[in-house]
Amino acid sequence: MNGIDGGVAVVTGAAAGIGRASARRFASEGASVVVADIDADDLAETVDLIEADGGEATAVETDVSDDDDVAALVESTIDTYGVPDFACNNAGIEGSSAPLSDQSLDDYKRVIDVNQTGVWNCLTEELAVMADNGGGAIVNMSSIAGLSAAGGGPYVASKHGVVGLTRVAAAEYGPAGVRVNAVCPGVIDTEMIDRASEEMGEEGIDQIVRAKPLRRMGDPDEVAAAVVWLCSEESSFVTGHPLVVDGGYVA
Ligand SMILES: NC(=O)c1ccc[n+]([C@@H]2O[C@H](COP(=O)([O-])OP(=O)(O)OC[C@H]3O[C@@H](n4cnc5c(N)ncnc54)[C@H](O)[C@@H]3O)[C@@H](O)[C@H]2O)c1
Repeated sequence: MNGIDGGVAVVTGAAAGIGRASARRFASEGASVVVADIDADDLAETVDLIEADGGEATAVETDVSDDDDVAALVESTIDTYGVPDFACNNAGIEGSSAPLSDQSLDDYKRVIDVNQTGVWNCLTEELAVMADNGGGAIVNMSSIAGLSAAGGGPYVASKHGVVGLTRVAAAEYGPAGVRVNAVCPGVIDTEMIDRASEEMGEEGIDQIVRAKPLRRMGDPDEVAAAVVWLCSEESSFVTGHPLVVDGGYVA
């Protein structure tokens, strides 16, 4: 896609699922990619996959809920490839789907720490360096749970928070040439959904899938295509937008 070739991308949560697919898509379009995750082994596998396809990638073990880790991630990206042009702040956890009163404050805080504060940590590091560098494009991973009650309380709250941060960042940094959007996937076939099925039972996930006009789960590559499009010049006038990629569920 226009404008990706030769750029530098950072993708968090890149050891699996949507993050890995997005990192591979950035690399296949010609970007150098820094992949970040808490899972060092699977992260190394993402690098192997990208290199096997002829792409360029470096792994940086990172916990997005730790602001020092995220500062080190951005610093290491600049040292390795230069200031990032693109970022996909994707790392996330699902938390429990139990009713609110059955969840503890710790359950709530853990999901907020990773999904919402993680995006905050990434944005605060990325926006400043991108703005100083003349611009860039950021995609934050929200969810249909960022637009509706499609999940447990902590998860829904965290993903609504991601949409809010996306809008503020887009409004504040548009004048500096940084576009900031969110992607809101529906049910996508990843390990997160395998774990959620174990908790809710297959029937819970099937019910959501049956409610989708397209009557199937999405593939991580279908989300990756949206992520990279939102970073490309093809979407040059799109900012502050939560792009739904859900097979029609929200509709
Ligand atoms: N799969 C879906 O149906 C779906 C739907 C909507 C939104 N999402 C969102 O997409 C993103 C990716 O989900 P996925 O389905 O690929 O999940 P996944 O569990 O397959 O992958 C998530 C990755 O994030 C990493 N991670 C977790 N905590 C981290 C932390 N503190 N720091 C760094 N990395 C961490 C994990 O190690 C893992 O590699 C998440 O934000 C998720 O909420 C997924």
